[in-house]
Amino acid sequence: MNVIENRKDEHVRIALEKHVSADHNQWDDIILTHNALPELNYDEIDISTTLFGKDLGAPLIIAAMTGGYTLAKDINERLAYTASHLQIPMGVGSQRAALENPNLRQTYGIIKDYDVPLRIANIGASQLVLWGHKKTVQHVQDMVSMIDAHAIAICLNFLQEVVQFEGEPHAKGCFDEIKLLSEEIDIPIIIKESGAGISQDVAVRLLKTNIACIDVGGKGGTSFAAIEHYRAKLRSDYLNARGGQTFWNWGISTPQSIREVGEAINWKLPLIATGGIRNGLDVAKAIILGARCAGVAQALLKASTESKEATLLESEVIIKELRAALFLLGIDSVQHMPEVKYEFRKLS
Ligand SMILES: Cc1cc2nc3c(=O)[nH]c(=O)nc-3n(C[C@H](O)[C@H](O)[C@H](O)COP(=O)(O)O)c2cc1C
Repeated sequence: MNVIENRKDEHVRIALEKHVSADHNQWDDIILTHNALPELNYDEIDISTTLFGKDLGAPLIIAAMTGGYTLAKDINERLAYTASHLQIPMGVGSQRAALENPNLRQTYGIIKDYDVPLRIANIGASQLVLWGHKKTVQHVQDMVSMIDAHAIAICLNFLQEVVQFEGEPHAKGCFDEIKLLSEEIDIPIIIKESGAGISQDVAVRLLKTNIACIDVGGKGGTSFAAIEHYRAKLRSDYLNARGGQTFWNWGISTPQSIREVGEAINWKLPLIATGGIRNGLDVAKAIILGARCAGVAQALLKASTESKEATLLESEVIIKELRAALFLLGIDSVQHMPEVKYEFRKLS
């Protein structure tokens, strides 16, 4: 395995074996009011939605996780099987490994074998800066064709880059490149954080580009600082292990980020709430707060290393819980969820 393949493998293994979540999950602080007289039938609840003009079976996205080494092909295949079965979107992990080693393309491309309604390509934002514009456009086209993608996520993962021992924390020129790219390519661009959230200021800046969507990728679930802490520790690298620990809980929580970004951009772009979603009740809270879809990674990771059946079952449980939440709120469709009143127990 080369450096990137090894890194992707370690990310999955550490996320499976260690506790790598933020210390507090703010989805627990959102209180919904029980409706003891819901006046609707469970099996009539409509959880379908749309994103980028695609009809989706539920407002749930399988978030970017992996690709680029042998086990990743199996994981992506099981996730794609699930996404196809439930007609929900799926992202692959950063495709950089396959750009550098074409033998790895199929570890991502396997998802083309399944009828996934919305396939999302993925690349870290610092790559855009390192490549420069011409190369970025070529690589984006290549990543899109690798999985026959309907959209591409550009991952703002500067927290990870700065705490990672082999990280590349290059952010200068990133905004300009996103803007230029968004004006040139005709595939929807999702700007996605990966655990530290999007602030109001950043959202307002992003609205000046032609991007199609923001995935706020907030704090509360998988912490990449935690994962990089353990990777550094494996190497007895005190300098980087310490940074990962210090920034373990850095960032803006996902619920807070959804609210603040939505208000700052006047809900002009669809938002995705990834970060800390553990079950269908969290998904319901995300949609009530204003997200179009909720993204889930860690909650499906273990099952996706086991079998297609286990992955599908885990996802079906999440969807059943989402339906149950709507039933207990007396809400008959996803479209009516933003009307539901909620309280924040506390802000953290
Ligand atoms: C093992 C692992 C690998 C990941 N790799 C990527 C990646 O390559 N690109 C990306 O945008 N996000 C990546 N993520 C971040 C997820 O897409 C998601 O934003 C984050 O895990 C928060 O969701 P969660 O709390 O449900 O895990 C990865 C997450 C995990 C657990």
